[in-house]
Amino acid sequence: MTIPTFVIGIAGGTGAGKTTVAREVADTVGEAVTRIPIDNYYEDLSHMPLEDREEVNYDHPDAFEWELLVDQLDSLLMGQPIEMPQYDFEIHNRTDETVTVSPSDVIVVEGIFALYDEDILDMCDLRVFVETDADVRILRRIRRDVLERGRELAGVIDQYLSTVKPMHEQFVDPTKKNADVIIPEGANRMAVDLLAEKVEAETEDGPAEETARAWEAVEESDRT
Ligand code: CTP
Repeated sequence: MTIPTFVIGIAGGTGAGKTTVAREVADTVGEAVTRIPIDNYYEDLSHMPLEDREEVNYDHPDAFEWELLVDQLDSLLMGQPIEMPQYDFEIHNRTDETVTVSPSDVIVVEGIFALYDEDILDMCDLRVFVETDADVRILRRIRRDVLERGRELAGVIDQYLSTVKPMHEQFVDPTKKNADVIIPEGANRMAVDLLAEKVEAETEDGPAEETARAWEAVEESDRT
Protein backbone atom coordinates (compact mmCIF):
# COMPACT_ATOMS: atom_id res chain seq x y z
CA MET A 1 0.00 0.00 0.00
CA THR A 2 1.35 3.42 -0.87
CA ILE A 3 0.75 6.53 1.23
CA PRO A 4 -1.87 8.68 -0.52
CA THR A 5 -0.77 12.00 -1.98
CA PHE A 6 -1.35 14.94 0.35
CA VAL A 7 -2.82 17.93 -1.49
CA ILE A 8 -2.66 21.49 -0.14
CA GLY A 9 -4.62 24.36 -1.72
CA ILE A 10 -3.16 27.83 -1.13
CA ALA A 11 -5.44 30.73 -2.08
CA GLY A 12 -5.44 34.48 -1.40
CA GLY A 13 -5.71 37.77 -3.23
CA THR A 14 -3.21 39.01 -5.78
CA GLY A 15 0.14 39.79 -4.15
CA ALA A 16 -0.86 38.09 -0.90
CA GLY A 17 2.33 36.03 -0.84
CA LYS A 18 0.84 32.68 -1.88
CA THR A 19 3.88 31.70 -3.91
CA THR A 20 6.24 32.53 -1.04
CA VAL A 21 4.19 30.45 1.41
CA ALA A 22 4.04 27.56 -1.07
CA ARG A 23 7.78 27.73 -1.71
CA GLU A 24 8.66 27.95 1.99
CA VAL A 25 6.41 25.02 2.89
CA ALA A 26 8.01 23.04 0.05
CA ASP A 27 11.52 23.92 1.29
CA THR A 28 10.67 23.05 4.90
CA VAL A 29 8.98 19.72 4.18
CA GLY A 30 11.44 16.86 3.97
CA GLU A 31 9.86 15.29 0.88
CA ALA A 32 9.45 16.13 -2.77
CA VAL A 33 6.68 18.72 -3.15
CA THR A 34 5.08 19.41 -6.53
CA ARG A 35 3.79 22.97 -7.02
CA ILE A 36 0.88 23.51 -9.41
CA PRO A 37 0.33 27.25 -10.05
CA ILE A 38 -3.25 27.73 -11.23
CA ASP A 39 -2.04 30.61 -13.46
CA ASN A 40 -0.77 27.91 -15.80
CA TYR A 41 -4.37 26.90 -16.41
CA TYR A 42 -5.62 30.21 -17.84
CA GLU A 43 -7.63 29.38 -20.97
CA ASP A 44 -5.62 29.11 -24.16
CA LEU A 45 -6.32 32.43 -25.96
CA SER A 46 -4.18 31.80 -29.03
CA HIS A 47 -7.21 32.47 -31.26
CA MET A 48 -7.34 36.12 -30.04
CA PRO A 49 -5.05 38.98 -31.08
CA LEU A 50 -2.82 40.49 -28.36
CA GLU A 51 -4.91 43.71 -28.14
CA ASP A 52 -7.97 41.62 -27.26
CA ARG A 53 -6.08 39.42 -24.83
CA GLU A 54 -4.97 42.56 -23.00
CA GLU A 55 -8.62 43.36 -22.29
CA VAL A 56 -9.63 40.00 -20.80
CA ASN A 57 -10.83 39.86 -17.20
CA TYR A 58 -8.19 37.56 -15.70
CA ASP A 59 -9.73 37.73 -12.24
CA HIS A 60 -12.99 36.00 -13.14
CA PRO A 61 -13.24 32.23 -12.55
CA ASP A 62 -14.30 31.75 -16.19
CA ALA A 63 -10.82 32.79 -17.32
CA PHE A 64 -9.49 29.37 -16.26
CA GLU A 65 -9.65 25.95 -17.90
CA TRP A 66 -10.89 24.12 -14.82
CA GLU A 67 -11.49 20.83 -16.60
CA LEU A 68 -7.83 20.53 -17.58
CA LEU A 69 -6.67 21.36 -14.03
CA VAL A 70 -9.05 18.78 -12.50
CA ASP A 71 -8.04 16.12 -15.06
CA GLN A 72 -4.34 16.72 -14.49
CA LEU A 73 -4.66 16.66 -10.70
CA ASP A 74 -6.64 13.44 -11.02
CA SER A 75 -3.85 11.94 -13.10
CA LEU A 76 -1.21 12.92 -10.53
CA LEU A 77 -3.33 11.43 -7.75
CA MET A 78 -3.55 8.21 -9.77
CA GLY A 79 0.24 8.16 -10.03
CA GLN A 80 0.51 9.31 -13.64
CA PRO A 81 2.76 12.14 -14.88
CA ILE A 82 1.23 15.18 -16.59
CA GLU A 83 2.27 17.76 -19.17
CA MET A 84 1.61 21.02 -17.29
CA PRO A 85 0.95 24.08 -19.48
CA GLN A 86 3.15 27.15 -18.98
CA TYR A 87 1.87 30.73 -18.89
CA ASP A 88 3.52 33.92 -20.13
CA PHE A 89 2.08 37.09 -18.51
CA GLU A 90 3.80 39.34 -21.06
CA ILE A 91 1.83 37.88 -23.98
CA HIS A 92 -1.28 37.06 -21.90
CA ASN A 93 -1.25 33.48 -23.10
CA ARG A 94 0.11 29.99 -22.69
CA THR A 95 3.45 29.28 -24.22
CA ASP A 96 4.00 26.42 -26.67
CA GLU A 97 5.94 24.54 -24.03
CA THR A 98 4.71 22.21 -21.33
CA VAL A 99 6.59 20.85 -18.33
CA THR A 100 6.46 17.20 -17.37
CA VAL A 101 5.37 16.87 -13.74
CA SER A 102 5.75 13.53 -12.00
CA PRO A 103 3.51 12.35 -9.18
CA SER A 104 4.82 13.02 -5.66
CA ASP A 105 3.77 12.59 -2.03
CA VAL A 106 2.79 16.25 -1.66
CA ILE A 107 1.11 18.57 -4.17
CA VAL A 108 0.57 22.29 -3.59
CA VAL A 109 -2.09 23.93 -5.76
CA GLU A 110 -1.73 27.71 -5.55
CA GLY A 111 -3.55 30.66 -7.03
CA ILE A 112 -6.24 33.27 -6.41
CA PHE A 113 -8.89 30.59 -7.05
CA ALA A 114 -7.26 27.59 -5.33
CA LEU A 115 -10.25 27.35 -2.96
CA TYR A 116 -12.97 28.10 -5.53
CA ASP A 117 -13.79 25.01 -7.61
CA GLU A 118 -15.74 22.24 -5.83
CA ASP A 119 -13.75 19.42 -7.45
CA ILE A 120 -10.45 21.00 -6.44
CA LEU A 121 -11.73 21.61 -2.92
CA ASP A 122 -12.66 17.93 -2.68
CA MET A 123 -9.17 16.91 -3.76
CA CYS A 124 -7.47 19.10 -1.14
CA ASP A 125 -6.53 17.62 2.23
CA LEU A 126 -5.57 21.03 3.63
CA ARG A 127 -7.04 24.35 2.48
CA VAL A 128 -5.12 27.53 3.24
CA PHE A 129 -6.05 31.18 2.60
CA VAL A 130 -3.24 33.74 2.83
CA GLU A 131 -4.68 37.02 4.06
CA THR A 132 -2.70 40.18 3.47
CA ASP A 133 -3.93 43.79 3.60
CA ALA A 134 -5.10 45.17 0.25
CA ASP A 135 -2.66 48.11 0.35
CA VAL A 136 0.31 45.78 0.76
CA ARG A 137 -1.01 43.54 -2.03
CA ILE A 138 -1.49 46.34 -4.55
CA LEU A 139 1.97 47.77 -3.81
CA ARG A 140 3.53 44.35 -4.40
CA ARG A 141 1.48 43.93 -7.55
CA ILE A 142 2.52 47.30 -8.98
CA ARG A 143 6.18 46.50 -8.36
CA ARG A 144 5.88 43.02 -9.88
CA ASP A 145 3.80 43.98 -12.93
CA VAL A 146 5.94 46.99 -13.83
CA LEU A 147 9.35 45.47 -13.11
CA GLU A 148 8.80 41.82 -14.04
CA ARG A 149 5.86 41.71 -16.43
CA GLY A 150 6.74 44.73 -18.54
CA ARG A 151 3.50 46.64 -17.82
CA GLU A 152 2.79 50.39 -17.71
CA LEU A 153 1.91 51.86 -14.29
CA ALA A 154 -1.32 53.48 -15.60
CA GLY A 155 -2.50 50.15 -17.03
CA VAL A 156 -1.78 48.31 -13.78
CA ILE A 157 -3.83 50.84 -11.81
CA ASP A 158 -6.71 50.76 -14.34
CA GLN A 159 -6.83 46.96 -14.29
CA TYR A 160 -6.74 46.91 -10.49
CA LEU A 161 -9.70 49.25 -10.17
CA SER A 162 -11.79 47.85 -13.04
CA THR A 163 -11.40 44.08 -12.53
CA VAL A 164 -8.87 42.92 -9.91
CA LYS A 165 -10.45 44.66 -6.91
CA PRO A 166 -14.14 44.01 -7.72
CA MET A 167 -13.47 40.37 -8.65
CA HIS A 168 -11.47 39.91 -5.47
CA GLU A 169 -14.42 41.13 -3.44
CA GLN A 170 -16.98 39.12 -5.41
CA PHE A 171 -15.15 35.83 -5.97
CA VAL A 172 -11.79 35.50 -4.22
CA ASP A 173 -12.37 36.84 -0.73
CA PRO A 174 -15.54 34.71 -0.18
CA THR A 175 -13.47 31.52 -0.70
CA LYS A 176 -11.90 32.25 2.69
CA LYS A 177 -14.87 30.38 4.14
CA ASN A 178 -13.57 27.22 2.46
CA ALA A 179 -10.22 27.44 4.25
CA ASP A 180 -9.13 25.20 7.12
CA VAL A 181 -6.43 27.72 7.99
CA ILE A 182 -6.13 31.47 7.36
CA ILE A 183 -2.55 32.70 7.44
CA PRO A 184 -2.11 36.39 8.23
CA GLU A 185 0.42 38.40 6.24
CA GLY A 186 2.21 36.24 3.75
CA ALA A 187 5.33 34.37 4.73
CA ASN A 188 4.57 33.92 8.39
CA ARG A 189 7.35 31.64 9.69
CA MET A 190 5.34 30.05 12.47
CA ALA A 191 2.48 29.25 10.10
CA VAL A 192 4.85 27.79 7.52
CA ASP A 193 6.46 25.56 10.18
CA LEU A 194 3.06 24.39 11.42
CA LEU A 195 1.90 23.59 7.87
CA ALA A 196 5.15 21.73 7.16
CA GLU A 197 4.78 19.71 10.38
CA LYS A 198 1.24 18.75 9.43
CA VAL A 199 2.34 17.67 5.95
CA GLU A 200 5.21 15.62 7.38
CA ALA A 201 2.93 13.97 9.93
CA GLU A 202 0.46 13.03 7.19
CA THR A 203 3.03 11.67 4.77
CA GLU A 204 5.48 9.84 7.00
CA ASP A 205 5.10 6.10 7.67
CA GLY A 206 2.87 5.93 10.73
CA PRO A 207 1.55 2.86 12.51
CA ALA A 208 -1.44 2.68 10.15
CA GLU A 209 0.81 2.38 7.08
CA GLU A 210 3.03 -0.19 8.81
CA THR A 211 -0.03 -2.31 9.64
CA ALA A 212 -1.31 -2.01 6.08
CA ARG A 213 2.04 -3.09 4.71
CA ALA A 214 2.14 -6.05 7.09
CA TRP A 215 -1.29 -7.13 5.82
CA GLU A 216 -0.14 -6.75 2.23
CA ALA A 217 2.80 -9.02 2.96
CA VAL A 218 0.47 -11.63 4.50
CA GLU A 219 -1.90 -11.46 1.50
CA GLU A 220 1.04 -11.72 -0.89
CA SER A 221 2.38 -14.84 0.89
CA ASP A 222 -1.15 -16.35 0.85
CA ARG A 223 -1.23 -15.93 -2.93
CA THR A 224 2.14 -17.68 -3.45
N1 CTP B 1 -3.04 38.39 -14.56
C1 CTP B 1 -2.68 39.44 -15.39
N2 CTP B 1 -2.51 39.22 -16.71
C2 CTP B 1 -2.70 38.00 -17.24
C3 CTP B 1 -3.09 36.92 -16.42
C4 CTP B 1 -3.25 37.16 -15.06
O1 CTP B 1 -2.50 40.56 -14.92
N3 CTP B 1 -2.53 37.81 -18.53
C5 CTP B 1 -3.21 38.64 -13.14
C6 CTP B 1 -4.66 38.57 -12.72
O2 CTP B 1 -5.18 39.86 -12.79
C7 CTP B 1 -4.59 38.01 -11.28
C8 CTP B 1 -3.13 37.70 -11.08
O3 CTP B 1 -2.55 37.67 -12.36
O4 CTP B 1 -5.02 38.98 -10.34
C9 CTP B 1 -2.94 36.35 -10.41
O5 CTP B 1 -1.65 36.22 -10.01
P1 CTP B 1 -1.22 36.61 -8.50
O6 CTP B 1 -2.08 35.92 -7.55
O7 CTP B 1 -1.10 38.07 -8.39
O8 CTP B 1 0.22 36.06 -8.53
P2 CTP B 1 1.05 35.19 -7.54
O9 CTP B 1 2.46 35.61 -7.73
O10 CTP B 1 0.74 33.76 -7.72
O11 CTP B 1 0.50 35.67 -6.11
P3 CTP B 1 1.27 35.91 -4.78
O12 CTP B 1 1.84 37.28 -4.87
O13 CTP B 1 0.20 35.78 -3.74
O14 CTP B 1 2.32 34.86 -4.68
